[in-house]
Amino acid sequence: MPGPDQTPFYITTPIYYVNDAPHIGHAYTTIACDVLARFKRLDGYRVHFLTGTDDHGQKVEKSAQAADMEPQAFTDRVSGNFRQLAQVMNCTNDDFIRTTEPRHKRACQAVWRKLMEAGDIYLGTYAGWYAVRDEAFYGENELTKQPDGSFIAPSGAPVDWVEEPSYFFRLSDWGDRLLAFYEREPDAIMPESRRNEVIAFVKSGLRDLSVSRTTFSWGVPVPDDPDHVMYVWLDALTNYITAIGYPDEESESFSTFWPAVLHMVGKDILRFHAVYWPAFLMAAGVAPPKRVFAHGWWTSEGQKISKSLGNVIDPFEIVKRYGLDQVRYFLLREVPFGNDGDFSYRAVVGRINNDLANDFGNLAQRVLSMVAKNCGGQVPEPGGFTAADEALLTAARELAGRLRAAYEVQAFHRALEMTWEVVGAANRYVDEQAPWALRKSDPARMATVLYTVLETVKHLAILTQPVMPDAMSSLLDQLGQPAERRSFADLAGALRPGTALPKPQGVFPRYLDETAA
Ligand code: MSP
Repeated sequence: MPGPDQTPFYITTPIYYVNDAPHIGHAYTTIACDVLARFKRLDGYRVHFLTGTDDHGQKVEKSAQAADMEPQAFTDRVSGNFRQLAQVMNCTNDDFIRTTEPRHKRACQAVWRKLMEAGDIYLGTYAGWYAVRDEAFYGENELTKQPDGSFIAPSGAPVDWVEEPSYFFRLSDWGDRLLAFYEREPDAIMPESRRNEVIAFVKSGLRDLSVSRTTFSWGVPVPDDPDHVMYVWLDALTNYITAIGYPDEESESFSTFWPAVLHMVGKDILRFHAVYWPAFLMAAGVAPPKRVFAHGWWTSEGQKISKSLGNVIDPFEIVKRYGLDQVRYFLLREVPFGNDGDFSYRAVVGRINNDLANDFGNLAQRVLSMVAKNCGGQVPEPGGFTAADEALLTAARELAGRLRAAYEVQAFHRALEMTWEVVGAANRYVDEQAPWALRKSDPARMATVLYTVLETVKHLAILTQPVMPDAMSSLLDQLGQPAERRSFADLAGALRPGTALPKPQGVFPRYLDETAA
């Protein structure tokens, strides 16, 4: 089943604050986006995959001060770590944006002017609470009083009282139009439970939003009023359109990729993406994004991840320890995408040794070593297929369509479960058909059985490339599948009997558990 011909698909990660080192949460979103980008490319879409860094704001300015550096030099350094994260995670992003780039300043100021022209911005004074950690304004009713009399935001972030001249965006005028948008586009916010939260929040009434600050300067200057810098979230959200050419709405990239976009975000930043962002865009005369998907948060060995607990998971470290494809697989398989999940040593090792080494790895290893030993190292020539052979081949051939449906709703865990159902069926088939017993009694039948399994493994390998690109590339080499014939459209062409195969090599080593006594 060939995929759609170059249908545009634009996918974005949040842009990460450069106040700190990359952690597991950053790696998670970036990997999930990469898997989708790869899946869609293999399925024939024209993909644009964007990630980058959020260089501005008070939080970053404070971190630069703490490091005794100029903000520009500080952000250059930390932003580089995020660029490296994408590379080390084997991500295929087409662009990496920084909000300190000239192209972005231009886009932000153009958005601002549009909002001004539309009458959606006015000058006033902000007097209220602000959490630098979240870069968010809070109403008194959202805060919790601490025993020492101070207040904290729902996220746990400390808040400060702020009083300063500020421009406001007339968010209070946008409630009905936002609700109409959610109604019209039921898939624009996912998962559904999060969509319901957003709708309830909007229904509860929106207040105008402060969109400029005057008490620090690390941001994009407000056009014609340089005492103000733009609120960091208005600046940051705009990155998604900067990167495809805004304000040049007629440009090839903008007209191709907007609004065919999927913004992948963590649940904590959904409100910015599902309420503020569509309102800003609609006010600026730009269509709102097609979808925002909010994923859950990771804990570590059952505990909230926090610096003060000292349990921050360094993505570079876990990749060194467990292997990159193993980490990519674990993160997407372990937890239903959208839910919270727990990162534990036992769970990772369990997935590596069970799903990867025992199930998939062993299946590939068994069939490839039998072919090497008994079929002269060539793809065997099959004879007539039995009902059992056909059943397995049909399950393999139907997998692409089922995965497409799961990926369409960002259900990575379901896609992997369905893939492993076929792995399980193939392992049972091998056990039942016992090709080793046919070697002397019925070599022609043995050839058919091995061919059936090879063809099944080929489907599995092609379809699993988005999640584990390196391991699947090695497996496809071992199956003799040419590098230029590994897209989903190529699933239709069966393996050619007589193709010489290289010497088999394990793709998924067992993880030797050094903590086991
Ligand atoms: N700069 C803003 C995003 C602007 S997008 C226009 C920002 N940056 S961030 O670096 O603080 O956060 C980036 C992402 O990391 C968020 O999506 C957040 O949900 C995610 N995570 C932070 N901790 C996490 C976990 N423990 N688990 C999963 N994701 C987590 O917010």
